[in-house]
Amino acid sequence: MTYPADIPAPIAMLAELTYRCPLSCPYCSNPIEMAKKETELDTQIWADVFAQAAKLGVLQLHLSGGEPASRRDLVALVAAARKAGLYTNLITSAIGLTQRRLADLEQAGLDHIQLSLQGTDAEMADRIGGYKGGFERKMQAAKWIVEAGFPLTLNAVVHRQNLHQLPEAIEMAVAMKARRMEVAIVQFHGWAMLNRQGMMPTRAQAEEANEIVAAARKRLKGVMVIDYVPADYHSDYPKRCMGGWGTTGLNVTPDGLVLPCHAAQTIPSLQFENVRDKALADIWYHGAAFNAYRGEDWMQEPCKSCDRRKLDFGGCRCQAMAIAGEAAATDPVCIKSPLHDKMTELAHNLSSGDNVELVYRKSP
Ligand code: SF4
Ligand code: FES
Repeated sequence: MTYPADIPAPIAMLAELTYRCPLSCPYCSNPIEMAKKETELDTQIWADVFAQAAKLGVLQLHLSGGEPASRRDLVALVAAARKAGLYTNLITSAIGLTQRRLADLEQAGLDHIQLSLQGTDAEMADRIGGYKGGFERKMQAAKWIVEAGFPLTLNAVVHRQNLHQLPEAIEMAVAMKARRMEVAIVQFHGWAMLNRQGMMPTRAQAEEANEIVAAARKRLKGVMVIDYVPADYHSDYPKRCMGGWGTTGLNVTPDGLVLPCHAAQTIPSLQFENVRDKALADIWYHGAAFNAYRGEDWMQEPCKSCDRRKLDFGGCRCQAMAIAGEAAATDPVCIKSPLHDKMTELAHNLSSGDNVELVYRKSP
């Protein structure tokens, strides 16, 4: 089989090993309808997918979920990924990681751990994660992770209810000896979309977060790198989602569907193929879903003639679907979108209400 030379190979693959998770964060990006345990790919199929990914050109494998540690075969999966020659990153809440298991993961060749943070104290973290005692277990696991010698990234998802803890979260990451920190203002997909009213930051909070991150980056130069996802509902230009549709990365769901991004299933016109039926390379290069928004032919005005179109590819297709009702529309975050003012008003209205009750994610 020949593949088009003008389509780049993917660099990264996100393997959602399972949707099972002991936590139930209301901002979870997993779909509302989740694949059940019985339909999850087994160890052998995942190992084959990892080998195919490496052959396709993938360099980094992100093992995610749900909670990937809920898979009993996690160590075997890491070993298989390592054997395929992939750089392996485990994205975890750390619930389910014991000292023994971490030693086994280290032995199997795990390269890096990304630890999620729901809050900087037990009250906040356990409330947002919906898991009593979770914070204490996480702090213990963080120590074990560093002691075991894993490079650590602390991943803080922030929103209206915990943004006041951002300075403390940055200090925590430094104290944990994290090499990187990802500060992500919640993106409204999946369960987070159900919780926009409870979690939308105010404009003042979004602006303060920009300043806090800018100052911390300056202060911690050479100590810790900070990646930052700003509050896009309060921005004037959209983010380059997924590095550009079908250019950089792909996601595989627990039951084997191959998606151009984690929220792609919210675009009803797209159909997805499964690694059980087709080769990964074939899906990447020829899959209709991957080709739907590649390049620029699908773009409408104002993106079509905009000089930023190669920078942001018109923003996020899933956000355009959710707000504009059309995935090929300009991301309404963009100041040039006819819906930008509506987006700004929406952000203001959603952020200025009372703290409504949160809808917690349910495990399948
Ligand atoms: Fe990006 Fe489209 Fe806005 Fe231009 S018009 S900045 S390409 S989203
Ligand atoms: Fe799907 Fe942005 S989340 S393109």
